[in-house]
Amino acid sequence: MSPYTPATIECNGETFKPYLSENQLQERVKELGAQLTRDYEDKRPIFIGVLNGAYIFLSDLMRHVQMPCEVDFLKLSSYGDEKVSSGQVTSLKEIDADIKGRHVVLVEDIVDTGLSMKYLLEQLRTKEPASLATVSLLHKKDATHYDVQLDYVGFKIPTLFVLGYGLDYAQEGRNLAQIYILDE
Ligand code: IMP
Repeated sequence: MSPYTPATIECNGETFKPYLSENQLQERVKELGAQLTRDYEDKRPIFIGVLNGAYIFLSDLMRHVQMPCEVDFLKLSSYGDEKVSSGQVTSLKEIDADIKGRHVVLVEDIVDTGLSMKYLLEQLRTKEPASLATVSLLHKKDATHYDVQLDYVGFKIPTLFVLGYGLDYAQEGRNLAQIYILDE
């Protein structure tokens, strides 16, 4: 079966062009997995994925983590059908695991303003993990207003809307095998 990688994609009335290829994504995810394997050896970390956007990245990343580890998920309110943050974050699903005294790695698809990450770090810190690190596949560096701790970043990208590889626009586009960017 060949991956879903059209030359351009129309979504919600806008056109997107390829930005990060499947190969670039897979290579970088492999590197991040290797780095985490080195840094967390013997720590039995728990990876916490932020739904929905991080589900594909996290599932690929975990398969490059070569040591015992666990996974759990939480869910935040989304952008809805908009391309800009509402400026408000609410929790739609909390983690099930007890992370007190555990080494926690929070896994995000993208950090834009940084509001979601800031909120999540504050929430998770109250649960007293032994350590708390963050991984984000993408970082819109110039759009980030909040001072958030980013320990592992896949790619720094411009302040433009992207979709694919788990990321959506109005819930579409998650199944694209590469990342597309708004064709301005
Ligand atoms: P922040 O709270 O502004 O940092 O936004 C983080 C969340 O917004 C991410 O987890 C995504 O769900 C969503 N988001 C931000 N930028 C994009 C984008 O370019 N494409 C798709 N979703 C995005």
